[in-house]
Amino acid sequence: MSLPTLVALAAAALPQAFAASSQSFVPPASSPFSASVNYVGQSNGSLPIDPVKPGKVFDRFIQIWFENTDFSVANSTAEFRSLAERGILLSQYFAVTHPSQPNYAATIGGSFWGLADDNKHDIPSQIGTMVDLLELGGVSWAAYQENMPTDGFNGETFSSVNYVDPTAANYTYYQRKHNPPILYDSVSGVPSRAARVRNFNDFAADVNTSALPQWMFVTPNMVNDGHDTNVDFAAAFLRYWLEPLLADPRFNDGRTLVLVTFDETESYLHNNNVFAVLLGGAVPERLHGTVDSTYYTHYSAMSTVQANWGLGSLGRGDTDPVMSNVYSLVANATGWKNNDIAGSSIPLTNLIGLTPGPLNPLFFLQTGWPAPNTSAVGAGGGPVFVGSG
Ligand SMILES: *[C@@H]1O[C@H](CO)[C@@H](O)[C@H](O)[C@H]1NC(C)=O
Ligand SMILES: *[C@@H]1O[C@H](CO)[C@@H](O)[C@H](O)[C@H]1NC(C)=O
Ligand SMILES: *[C@@H]1O[C@H](CO)[C@@H](O)[C@H](O)[C@H]1NC(C)=O
Ligand SMILES: *[C@@H]1O[C@H](CO)[C@@H](O)[C@H](O)[C@H]1NC(C)=O
Ligand SMILES: *[C@@H]1O[C@H](CO)[C@@H](O)[C@H](O)[C@H]1NC(C)=O
Ligand SMILES: *[C@@H]1O[C@H](CO)[C@@H](O)[C@H](O)[C@H]1NC(C)=O
Repeated sequence: MSLPTLVALAAAALPQAFAASSQSFVPPASSPFSASVNYVGQSNGSLPIDPVKPGKVFDRFIQIWFENTDFSVANSTAEFRSLAERGILLSQYFAVTHPSQPNYAATIGGSFWGLADDNKHDIPSQIGTMVDLLELGGVSWAAYQENMPTDGFNGETFSSVNYVDPTAANYTYYQRKHNPPILYDSVSGVPSRAARVRNFNDFAADVNTSALPQWMFVTPNMVNDGHDTNVDFAAAFLRYWLEPLLADPRFNDGRTLVLVTFDETESYLHNNNVFAVLLGGAVPERLHGTVDSTYYTHYSAMSTVQANWGLGSLGRGDTDPVMSNVYSLVANATGWKNNDIAGSSIPLTNLIGLTPGPLNPLFFLQTGWPAPNTSAVGAGGGPVFVGSG
């Protein structure tokens, strides 16, 4: 038996990603445009309106991540099917490992650093992320974290009044492990960057004043993202939050691309194929309801953004010749040639803890912090970013 087969079998004995509860959706605010005490910290005002750097296919990219759901489960839920009918379904889109946190770390850092747990880690300041590439390229950015109490908050969890069940004790709606930029000291340790990791009262202020930036990562809270609940709860949140925003040009104009996806599958037994859909005004109507079966991973969100704005790369997963295909919508427009890996050639990414790296919990798989591959050429064509030290 091959090692991957053994590991897949071993994974069957492990607990599945946690989900399921009997809670019913309750809107945290009167609308996505409104402030709410449920979000705790009051907004300190909206972001400055930065000049727009035109992209080749889109001028704004918004990623919204949900939790722990197999492709077939999302694809048989009415709200997700409805989104697919209004966008491009990416049917061969894979998370890069289990559990949650390494996937969130990977999608802006180009690596999960061998990580196989959800404990608190601080990725050192010499490690660059998408934030470095966006800032060098003049593309404004922010992350919006529902129920994170204050901007740039670096605590591991935060509990606040249980607005779903006001008779119950305070609830842990916020978890740092789902907040990609704050995991990196190169963001959390730099006040001007930490201030761009914002809560949902800031989101309401930013969307109202047309101040949403060009690159956004959105994490709904622990019930709305399906983590403590299920896909139907996540679908109800999408109807409450995303649907009005899709209809509003301050969020979705003709040059906006929205990615709705999941961090990982619920089952660890089969490979990590998650539901992913591209939406928004940047998707031409003739492509609505189509399926793109190119092999993508969480690294594709990096390579696609790099291709769109002609950015540099991190010389990590974002330039991996197997795992960093650019969404066809963008590859077709920029002339980037994707690989045609499919079927059994798709790597197994339901493995846990077998990738060597500095954060691997097994001491014999620990390494130092690897340098970027400075010979790599990413889809944006720009130089590989090398952090200080
Ligand atoms: C997703 O669901 C639709 C509607 O049931 C179905 O036609 C399609 O085959 C499914 N897609 C995949 C990749 O399973
Ligand atoms: C706004 O600023 C005040 C004072 O610095 C701070 O206490 C509060 O947490 C900030 N609000 C947010 C949402 O960060
Ligand atoms: C519950 O959370 C609120 C903030 O939403 C806080 O003001 C209050 O002190 C918390 N209560 C307890 C018992 O921790
Ligand atoms: C946004 O504008 C709407 C409509 O004018 C208003 O109801 C809402 O309170 C505003 N939200 C914020 C955060 O100012
Ligand atoms: C990209 O181009 C290929 C080849 O012409 C075509 O089959 C595919 O539908 C295009 N995809 C998108 C999303 O435009
Ligand atoms: C670095 O990138 C170059 C160019 O893509 C590639 O040939 C080489 O194999 C990569 N090196 C490593 C260690 O991955």
